[in-house]
Amino acid sequence: MVFHSAVSRRTVFRGLAGFLAGSPLLRGQQDPFRDHSRVPALREMLDAFDFEPVAFAKITRQAYDYMAWGVDGEFTMRRNREAYDWVGLVPRALAGAGPVQTASNFLGMNLAFPIMISPTARHVLFHPDAEAATHAGATAASGTPLIVSNVATFPVEKIAAAATGPWWFQLYPQQGPDYNRQTLDKAQAAGCRAIVVTVDQQASVYERQTHDQNLTSPTGPVLAPTTIGAPRQRGNPYRVPDGRLWYEWPLLDELRKIAKVPLVVKGIVTGEDARLCLEHGVDCIFVSNHGGRSLDYGPSTLEVLPEIAEAVGGRIPILFDGGIRRGSDILKALALGASAVSLGRVPLWGLAAYGPQGVQKVLEILQAELVQAMTAAGRPTLASIDKTLVRTEFL
Ligand SMILES: Cc1cc2nc3c(=O)[nH]c(=O)nc-3n(C[C@H](O)[C@H](O)[C@H](O)COP(=O)(O)O)c2cc1C
Repeated sequence: MVFHSAVSRRTVFRGLAGFLAGSPLLRGQQDPFRDHSRVPALREMLDAFDFEPVAFAKITRQAYDYMAWGVDGEFTMRRNREAYDWVGLVPRALAGAGPVQTASNFLGMNLAFPIMISPTARHVLFHPDAEAATHAGATAASGTPLIVSNVATFPVEKIAAAATGPWWFQLYPQQGPDYNRQTLDKAQAAGCRAIVVTVDQQASVYERQTHDQNLTSPTGPVLAPTTIGAPRQRGNPYRVPDGRLWYEWPLLDELRKIAKVPLVVKGIVTGEDARLCLEHGVDCIFVSNHGGRSLDYGPSTLEVLPEIAEAVGGRIPILFDGGIRRGSDILKALALGASAVSLGRVPLWGLAAYGPQGVQKVLEILQAELVQAMTAAGRPTLASIDKTLVRTEFL
C-alpha cells in the first residue's frame, strides 16, 4: 500500500518556485525585454533604442530605475514621447540633392549639428569615468557640447580637462549669499560657455526610487540620499522638499549680474513664462519639463513649443528637450520653433552601454538620422526647416 504524505512533492516544488520568483537574487533574470546570452557589439547598434537594453544589462537596477523613469505615474514622461507621433512631416518635392547643411552658430558656439547634451546628475552610476567619459565621447561626436549638471560626480575642472569640446554649466540655485556666486565663478573660471539655471522640479517625488530603496538591501545602496522621493519625515508630512520652493523671478536678475557668459533658463513650458524670461534679460530659453520628472500631467514639451516660439518671436534662441530619440524627432522640434535640441537619457544609455565610445556612437546615429530626415523631407538646410514642414495633431 502507498501512503501519500500530507506535503506532496508538487507542493514543495511550487513553494520553492514561489520563493525563488520573489527572491532579489533572481532579479536580473526577470527583466522583460532582453536576452542576456550575448552583448551586441557597438557596430551592431542601429538606432538609439538599441542602447537601452545593453545599458540595462550593465548597470544596477537602482541606477537604471533612477535614470529611466519619471515623477508620480509618469504620464508626462510617456506624453513627451507620444507627442512625436502626433506630428506628421510633409515633404517638399524636387528639393535638389546638394549637401545637407546642419551647422549653425548657437549662443556664440559653432555647432556642427543643432544637438547638445542636457544636464543629468551623477554619471558615475553609469560609468566609472562619469562625466569625463561623457564629455570625451560628446567631443568626439563632432564637438557636441555637454551641459554639466550641478550635481555631477566630478568637479567641473576635471570634466573640463577630459576633452576639448565646449561645455556649459547647469545650476540649481541655493539660498544664501555665497553658494550661487562661488559655484558660478568656479564654473566660469574653468571655461563654461553658458550658464543654465534650472527652475522646474520644485517638489517632485520619484516613487520608483523610493520603492527600490525599500526593496533592496540596506547594505548596498547605490544612490546617494536625495530629498527627491524621500519618505515622509516629521516636519515634512507632505513629502515636499523645500530646497527649491523659494525661487522667484528676481533670482534671475541676481544671476544675470554674476554670469559673464550667456544665461539660459531651463524648465519653461508656457509662453507667459517665456515673456517674463525676456523681461529679465535671459539670453536663451530652454523648453523642458525635466524629461517628465517635474510635474506629472503637465503637457509634453513638443506641444508647448509653438506657443513659446510665438512668445519669443525670434528675439532669443530656444533650446528644447524631452523625449528625443530619433533624427526625425529633432527635425520636428526644429520645425516647431527650436533653435537647437538637447538629449537627456539617450547619451546615458550610450555611456552605460559602451562608455565614451557609446556616447559618441549614439550621438553620431542621431546626427546621421537628422541628415537623412532633412534629405527625405526636402529641407536640406536648417534655414529651410519651418512650420510648413509639419502637421500637428496635438490632442
Ligand atoms: C537621470 C537624470 C538626471 C537628471 N539630472 C538633471 C540635473 O541634474 N539637472 C537638470 O537640470 N536636469 C536634469 N535632468 C533632466 C534633463 O536635463 C532633461 O531635461 C531630460 O532628461 C530630457 O528628457 P529626455 O531624457 O527624454 O531626453 C535629469 C534627467 C535624468 C533622466
